Amino acid sequence: MVHAPCLLLLLLLPLLRVSAATPEPCELDDDNFRCVCNFTDPQPDWSSAFQCMTAVEVEIRGGGRSLEQFLKGANADPKQYADLVKTLRLRRLTVGAAQVPTLLLIAFLRVLGYSRLKELTLEDLEVTGTPPPQPLEAIGPALSTLSLRNVSWTTGGSWLAELQQWLKPGLEVLNIAQAHSLAFSCAQLRTFPALKTLDLSDNPELGERGLIAALCPHKFPVLRDLALRNAGMQTPNGVCAAIAAAGVQPHSLDLSHNSLRAAAPGSPACEWPSALSSLNLSFAGLEQVPKGLPAKLSVLDLSCNRLNRGPRADELAGVTNLILDGNPFLDPGPSKQQDVHQEDSMTSGVVAACAGSALTVGMSGTLALLRGAGGFA
Ligand SMILES: *[C@@H]1O[C@H](CO)[C@@H](O)[C@H](O)[C@H]1NC(C)=O
Ligand SMILES: *[C@@H]1O[C@H](CO)[C@@H](O)[C@H](O)[C@H]1NC(C)=O
Ligand SMILES: *[C@@H]1O[C@H](CO)[C@@H](O)[C@H](O)[C@H]1NC(C)=O
Repeated sequence: MVHAPCLLLLLLLPLLRVSAATPEPCELDDDNFRCVCNFTDPQPDWSSAFQCMTAVEVEIRGGGRSLEQFLKGANADPKQYADLVKTLRLRRLTVGAAQVPTLLLIAFLRVLGYSRLKELTLEDLEVTGTPPPQPLEAIGPALSTLSLRNVSWTTGGSWLAELQQWLKPGLEVLNIAQAHSLAFSCAQLRTFPALKTLDLSDNPELGERGLIAALCPHKFPVLRDLALRNAGMQTPNGVCAAIAAAGVQPHSLDLSHNSLRAAAPGSPACEWPSALSSLNLSFAGLEQVPKGLPAKLSVLDLSCNRLNRGPRADELAGVTNLILDGNPFLDPGPSKQQDVHQEDSMTSGVVAACAGSALTVGMSGTLALLRGAGGFA
């Protein structure tokens, strides 16, 4: 029915006549800036996407359906669309809620190679089938930011290496949430020469062993910010060991929203990266300041924990900016006894400054349920 070589061409070609009865799946805002398509109709009017051609930000959701029908044209030479694609204002693109054959995804990236796209987000996608042979050179877009949330790949742990081959180098920010596999095939992975931010938050089953597998040594030479919110981390020391094994030198590390505990007595001390200056331990369920924190931190966020006393000076030597809001020891209320009513005192100390913690716990619980066991094997 629709013979478009790939999804992007839906933005370019009015393929089907607009049927008057159904509401338009796509909407372009008044400034021609943002265009959102949600193809939930069983017989969607794909040509509605044509109006997104002028937009800078485009979001396309496929209603959970398979996009296999567009595969027919995926072998077309993308060069023939080059002139058109070069004129697009498109900078940010989100594609979600669909089953996409790998060949179609790659065809799509090749066409986008002629665009000025900077940020690509893939969400709730099931990428099926095996990838085409690797390209001689990267001919996809020169992205600065790539974000993936809940994207599954038939190829398991090699997906990042395969995807990377199509992207021009220069990626600065990589976000991967709700991943189905973060056990990357490090031998296949190339270096990310410009990657400053790696965000692996919202992967509650990752854990410290998973982190070691994900942080391929020498592949992230200029990494500055590492975010591991809600990523199943257990002790700051374990994270330190994983970071040391990978040889990355982050300046900031976000461990918030993990339930952290103190390292087991006698566990080996770990040398933190010397550049690390900001550590976020907020919403981590901490009852005391963990031992063995980096010696020279300028920012330490301990907000929304269960600290019953303030940190002593010797516990936090060089910290210049210490954030302690939302801990029970700051609670002026009377329910501060630590005996029977500990639960109550914890909650009351936390409530005001830390609304939203329950939400996150609820969310990670749901994620864990949805994901089931063994997702990172
Ligand atoms: C798309 O439409 C479906 C069904 O109407 C709705 O549940 C979903 O929230 C919509 N998605 C977006 C991003 O608007
Ligand atoms: C993840 O994506 C799949 C489609 O690939 C979808 O069916 C599922 O509902 C999504 N899960 C969440 C938690 O959004
Ligand atoms: C630490 O993490 C929490 C929760 O993720 C966030 O709200 C807070 O802004 C972060 N603190 C700093 C100093 O960035």
